Amino acid sequence: MTTSTFDGRPGVLDRRGRALRDLRISVTDRCNFRCTYCMPAEVFGRDYAFLPHSEVLTYEEIRRLAAIFVDLGVGKLRITGGEPLVRKALPDLIAMLAQLRTPEADPVDLTLTTNGSALRPLARPLADAGLRRITVSLDSLDDATFRRMNGVDFPVTKVLDGIAAAREAGLAPIKVNMVVKRGENEASVVPMARWARDEGLVLRFIEYMDVGTANGWRLDDVVSAAEIVAAIDAELPLQAVEANYRGEVAGRWRYRDDSGEIGVIASVTQPFCGDCTRARLSAEGKLYTCLFSAVGTDLRAPLRSGASDEDLRAILERVWAARTDRYSELRTEATSHLPRVEMFALGG
Ligand code: GTP
Ligand code: 5AD
Ligand code: SF4
Ligand code: SF4
Repeated sequence: MTTSTFDGRPGVLDRRGRALRDLRISVTDRCNFRCTYCMPAEVFGRDYAFLPHSEVLTYEEIRRLAAIFVDLGVGKLRITGGEPLVRKALPDLIAMLAQLRTPEADPVDLTLTTNGSALRPLARPLADAGLRRITVSLDSLDDATFRRMNGVDFPVTKVLDGIAAAREAGLAPIKVNMVVKRGENEASVVPMARWARDEGLVLRFIEYMDVGTANGWRLDDVVSAAEIVAAIDAELPLQAVEANYRGEVAGRWRYRDDSGEIGVIASVTQPFCGDCTRARLSAEGKLYTCLFSAVGTDLRAPLRSGASDEDLRAILERVWAARTDRYSELRTEATSHLPRVEMFALGG
């Protein structure tokens, strides 16, 4: 394998010169929440057909694919869903993935994004299995706002207790993702910033995106990164900071009094496709090269019909080498109606 001109590590480049560095693995398409911007309850009701168990990759199948991705230069694995903690025995998968080593013999950066609702009992087993850090989604500290946005009347205190459990288990850093949607939770921006700063959490604000086609996205509902930063800066003065690494999704800002930092993920107003090194593996074993993809490449059929590691590796290299995605750079109100897979199905 050749050394990539992207960052000097081994790897394959796509048609725009971007290396393959991150793999987001969805372990289930199910979730116990119905967030308005992701799985609105009106659309994903009782009779919605989620994947049957037989169509979901087993932990051994996930481990095998992840090992090939890591061999190809992936250094970060993020477990997602749906809600990953609803899948049985998740610490078993974490233990399997924590064994993987990069071509330079380093452990992989293994992390997980969760809604935090089931963290209290699972934080310790996950940490013991080898999880180092975690990201919890939380859209408001105001109970009424949070209950409305999660769509299932789930109380905020339980998520806060999940975050406390993650801290007690030694997971660090703990990041918190907040999607900001106009008319729903922009009043929670500054209180969330204050809280996260006091608690020593890294808070990232996410512009509401047109992922999937079920959430009825409109450009008017997006609260821009500039607006979010201005609202916080007016009360807690901020200063921009350099990215941690090439391709970092969140723009970074630090408090001028050195009391912490925030991130802003501005996929709508400041797209970051130019350095996008992310691939996504869905629960049913499809490989997607963009969050806004309409079609993926099936890896489950070859996996279950005797393909060798070399065969699988050749498929991954071929798909990545052909990749041209840059959806967020092309987005308009009109593109939001194009067909695409829902975010919970392909791994947010
Ligand atoms: P760190 O390793 O902790 O820096 O993680 P990250 O920056 O990859 O963050 P995370 O996985 O928590 O992603 C945060 C959110 O950013 C996601 O939940 C998405 O909403 C959004 N996001 C992540 N990756 C992409 C991407 O490739 N494209 C777009 N448009 N949005 C993304
Ligand atoms: N826009 C922005 N972020 C979203 N997420 C889910 N749907 C959207 C959307 N439409 C975020 C969640 C969570 C992560 C998995 O993706 O808040 O942090
Ligand atoms: Fe579930 Fe996360 Fe989607 Fe909310 S954003 S419905 S918690 S998968
Ligand atoms: Fe990457 Fe697609 Fe997101 Fe652009 S829109 S950053 S190509 S996942």
